[in-house]
Amino acid sequence: MNKIKVCIIGMGEFSDFFIPLFRDHPDVEEVSIADVIPERVTAAALKHGIKRTFSSLEDVLKNGKDVDSIALFTQRHLHGPMVIDALKAGKHVFSAVPMAISVEECGKIIDIVKETRQIYMTGETCYYFPCAIFCRDAYKKGKFGEFVYGESQYYHDMKTFYSAFARSGGDSWKRVAGIPPMYYSTHSVSMIVSVIGQHATKVSCCGYRDHDPDEVFGVGKNNWDNPFSNQTALLTMSGGGIARVNEFRRVGIAHKPSSYITCMYGTTGAYECTTNKHMLINGVADPNGTHLEDVSDLVNTMYLTERSKAADFNPHEEPISERGHKGFSPVHDIARLPLPLQQIPDTVHYNSHPFLVDDFVRAVLSGKLPPNHAWDSARYMIPGLIAHESALKDGMPMDIPDFGDAPADWDKLYE
Ligand SMILES: NC(=O)c1ccc[n+]([C@@H]2O[C@H](COP(=O)([O-])OP(=O)(O)OC[C@H]3O[C@@H](n4cnc5c(N)ncnc54)[C@H](O)[C@@H]3O)[C@@H](O)[C@H]2O)c1
Repeated sequence: MNKIKVCIIGMGEFSDFFIPLFRDHPDVEEVSIADVIPERVTAAALKHGIKRTFSSLEDVLKNGKDVDSIALFTQRHLHGPMVIDALKAGKHVFSAVPMAISVEECGKIIDIVKETRQIYMTGETCYYFPCAIFCRDAYKKGKFGEFVYGESQYYHDMKTFYSAFARSGGDSWKRVAGIPPMYYSTHSVSMIVSVIGQHATKVSCCGYRDHDPDEVFGVGKNNWDNPFSNQTALLTMSGGGIARVNEFRRVGIAHKPSSYITCMYGTTGAYECTTNKHMLINGVADPNGTHLEDVSDLVNTMYLTERSKAADFNPHEEPISERGHKGFSPVHDIARLPLPLQQIPDTVHYNSHPFLVDDFVRAVLSGKLPPNHAWDSARYMIPGLIAHESALKDGMPMDIPDFGDAPADWDKLYE
């Protein structure tokens, strides 16, 4: 196979970013699209110049025999069974996060991928967030020593989230909007797991019982009888360190990016971030005391760094505004992207989308394992699923099941 044929499933808000990236990737021969809402298909086809359309995922799996890959952008609670169906139909699968919302579904995906060696990856945008790239690189270079403690979070207040659930949820959208926050902790967990290359083994989680009159959260009010709008988990990592993950859906902070690493402490060094200041700290190697290195210009977007030199720049607001997380940062390896993907307009999530698309296309064509493969994705996802169980038991510490590493004989796209 020299080029791939991909069908993008779900013409909601998020896939709109990805259709042009797949369409313009030089190794993609054809992009088709599908949605169960015909008007969305018509509008997206017109907007992006797409010729071939399907009426649903099921339609593609039945009638799109020559389509080799699926890119899934359906609602967050639907992914697991859809991925399993697509893999069983012989398709490679790119799936927006989360991987799935049960341990069993994660296990099934891994089993199929292990047996068939089809490509599966989640579109974990935070893997390519500059703070994660920076910390991954610093950790690899030994700047932190041994991992001791890290904090990451995803803050998305329900009031600014209504539209995301109402868009496809109809009259019963609240039943889905009340999904346990920890069922979407993949962003936060991935930023720790992918930096230190360890997985979580134990969790204790506490929850904030919601009593807002919007009645999204509470027993009987959503599909999961979930009472919590905010949850905080403490994870024990396989190397012995500790991670604190916050998943807040009722919180008076509108921060962009909504997911980020606040700190990462090791035995010899650390990283701390407050708004747009990113510090690399060497705590022991310097006999004259702690050495602080301001790495903000490396980690912030190029746009923000440039903008911060302007006389009217507001350092307290602009970095956490919508514009603050648009575009590439100097830690991105832009040159590895095909030219059309290098030239995209600055977009949300720090332009992580083209890297994800490129990883997937390269993985399908080479047969090599991309980052965010099934085993990685399960380690981003399962800690949160167990964390919710712990929260329902008032923080009882619980063991986290682990499906292990990817097979050692499967070559990786990047070593
Ligand atoms: N940073 C991130 O990684 C990030 C950001 C935003 C959204 N997302 C993820 O992207 C996904 C999509 O989010 P969204 O806001 O665009 O959702 P959305 O509700 O706007 O769109 C989902 C679409 O999927 C369609 N759909 C459902 N079942 C289908 C089927 N069987 N066949 C074809 N189409 C079907 C729906 O009709 C709808 O149009 C979610 O899983 C979300 O978690 C990730």
